Amino acid sequence: MDRKVVFITGASRGIGAACVRKFSDNGWNVAGFYKQTRIENTETVKYYQCDVADASSVQKAFDQAFADFGRIDCLVNNAGIFGYKKYPNVDEKMIDEMIGINEKGVYWCTKSVLAKMESGSIISVSSTVAQVGGTDPMYSATKAAILGFTKSLAKVMAPKIRVNAVAPGATDTDMMKNYDADRKEFLINATLLKKIAQPEDVANGIYFLASEEAGHITGACLDINGGYVLR
Ligand SMILES: NC(=O)c1ccc[n+]([C@@H]2O[C@H](COP(=O)([O-])OP(=O)(O)OC[C@H]3O[C@@H](n4cnc5c(N)ncnc54)[C@H](OP(=O)(O)O)[C@@H]3O)[C@@H](O)[C@H]2O)c1
Repeated sequence: MDRKVVFITGASRGIGAACVRKFSDNGWNVAGFYKQTRIENTETVKYYQCDVADASSVQKAFDQAFADFGRIDCLVNNAGIFGYKKYPNVDEKMIDEMIGINEKGVYWCTKSVLAKMESGSIISVSSTVAQVGGTDPMYSATKAAILGFTKSLAKVMAPKIRVNAVAPGATDTDMMKNYDADRKEFLINATLLKKIAQPEDVANGIYFLASEEAGHITGACLDINGGYVLR
């Protein structure tokens, strides 16, 4: 049987890069999308540049990936940014950037694959802050939008395509690089398992949702937070 193909946005670093390794290790071909961190192709992983906030850039990159691989079985909507200037200390440009990447990026990438997907699944990366609030209301709002989109798209695309989300808690990636020691200690203490997630913890959950083992799961959000929301 031909190898399955996954499209992963934000594939160059952090959770996306861990997803590339996980799918690759399990025999999938991978189309990875990045904005500026260029990575060398391998035999089974090809990288494409695009800005997920720009519909035409997404369409062009996704069309090229589809032409190269000839099929798509899974989309992982992972690309995202966290604002270091937080609401209400933001201007219209910052709000547009946050919504453009975190929210509209999910809509554009999903739209670009739907016409090409015969079956399979779509998994989008939300966050615990969509469930219990966080330090940046704008970021949390974009992550909450993903949950509503996921549940509604699951209804629209059933039974052809399964649509799910993951909600990670604090995860050790570049996104946390500006957190000071006190903030990290707070997050560890507020997590039942007393640790911050590694990108692989999140990639494992995403891969599970893409796999046959999750064949009866759609419209769901898998919490990957070490028990943070139970505190
Ligand atoms: N880390 C956490 O604590 C945490 C917790 C919950 C949810 N999340 C979510 O998990 C996802 C991945 O986060 P991460 O921690 O792995 O972040 P990260 O290490 O900062 O990586 C972000 C990724 O998104 C890509 N990206 C950013 N803007 C883009 C754009 N306009 N177009 C295309 N790609 C773009 C980056 O590409 P370049 O390398 O080319 O810039 C990079 O691959 C995000 O949606 C984030 O909101 C993270």
